[in-house]
Amino acid sequence: MANKNSVTMTDNRTGKSFEYNIIDPTLGASVVDIATFYKDTGLFMLDRGFTSTASCRSRITYIDGSKGKLMYRGYDISYLATQKSFVDTAHLLLYKKLPTNEERDAFKLELKKRSFVHEGMKKLFDAFPDNAHPMAILSAAVSALSTFYFDHLDIDSPEEYMEMAKRIIAKIPTIAAFSYRYSRGLPIIYPNLDRGFTENILYMLRAYPHDHIDLKPIEVKALDTIFTLHADHEQNASTTTVRTVASTHAHPYAAISAGICALWGRSHGGANESVISQLEMIGDVKNVEKYIAKAKDKNDPFRLMGFGHRVYKNFDPRATILKDIREQLMKERAIDSKLIEVANKIEEIALHDEYFIERGLYPNIDFYSGLILRALGIPKEMYAVIFVIGRVPGWIAQWIEFKEQPDGKIARPRQLYLGPTEIKPE
Ligand code: SDX
Repeated sequence: MANKNSVTMTDNRTGKSFEYNIIDPTLGASVVDIATFYKDTGLFMLDRGFTSTASCRSRITYIDGSKGKLMYRGYDISYLATQKSFVDTAHLLLYKKLPTNEERDAFKLELKKRSFVHEGMKKLFDAFPDNAHPMAILSAAVSALSTFYFDHLDIDSPEEYMEMAKRIIAKIPTIAAFSYRYSRGLPIIYPNLDRGFTENILYMLRAYPHDHIDLKPIEVKALDTIFTLHADHEQNASTTTVRTVASTHAHPYAAISAGICALWGRSHGGANESVISQLEMIGDVKNVEKYIAKAKDKNDPFRLMGFGHRVYKNFDPRATILKDIREQLMKERAIDSKLIEVANKIEEIALHDEYFIERGLYPNIDFYSGLILRALGIPKEMYAVIFVIGRVPGWIAQWIEFKEQPDGKIARPRQLYLGPTEIKPE
């Protein structure tokens, strides 16, 4: 008699049945443990894009796509984004708890102390041509970090995890700012240790040597909120990449560099840059209907950037928070009204169009983040870089979670082979 908390699968070709245990979660969907399925049945499961597959056990982030719910270590994203800071959120992801005031100050100081990069890294930046895409520079520079900090080459000591984590969280913004300045032929600006973590990033992007710049609090809050909203997101494509590299026990900076490369794609973290390019291409509200029709046309590869999500089939809760931030920022800084008009028209039409509604295609985080970053004077080729700065604490937390589990397995999926049978050469 099969036990209640299981599923039974029958291979109708042989009539044989196999039982697989169901494992219940704290929240969300239960899972069927099919680890022995191939051994039992000689069959693989095919799940393109892993739409129905849980790749790991995790205690970090929970998403309920139908309810538009997102939590980091049990805290709702709207609480973290409105009541806490990105540094608080990074501390929560890494240390599994929000910091006390003393812990926050100590963590901030730890990050400040690590915010400079080895001067030798500047030769790397020099090697890139002008206008090299900052994401290409960033992924190369992060991988190169392992040559400067070789003491993390084979990191299996938990005490070193946090040192590695603080080092990369602190250095990525500096590397990102250097990438941007070099790509535009601008003098590089070193971190200013009198400024906060997020404020320093805007400072390194905007300042010039020996000049003083005033940053409006709403600008810093807007960027800090963007970082918090991007800090982690369950097993998305780039996090899956980081965990896959972690499973081979490669250097942690190699895992983060691989995550940066995966994130760059326009279907993922590169979407925020594509949203702005698309709004610029559409150009005027009178063109919106034409592009909505293209997005709906099965024979047209055109897709509406910033719409749709593998998990959220309702509003992306992060998009809702960003929409509010955009309104607050608009009171202080000019946001390109033409692009806002086009974006609002797209949203207005798409949210009432059967094609989008029946497929659960709603604006995602990238639909709003690009316009806010544009208002902050950050060029669109830097938008995915901003996404990386936000996502690094999540990637590191996921990397550590993999390393801390006693039974971690190397990621090695199988396939449905459709190639030629053996060719016998004459
Ligand atoms: C991020 O996974 C994460 O958590 C990612 C992320 C994170 O924080 O890490 O949230 C960050 O990457 C957000 C998503 C950013 N990408 C974009 O905005 C690019 C545009 N969106 C699409 O490419 C797409 O919606 C995806 C990639 C986001 C999701 O793709 P899925 O889940 O694989 O969905 P699908 O391609 O199977 O599409 C389902 C249907 C299809 O139509 P039918 O074949 O059913 O008729 O919806 C259609 C698709 O053609 N569709 C779209 C569309 N997205 C899906 N049609 C027009 N425009 C779109 N944007």
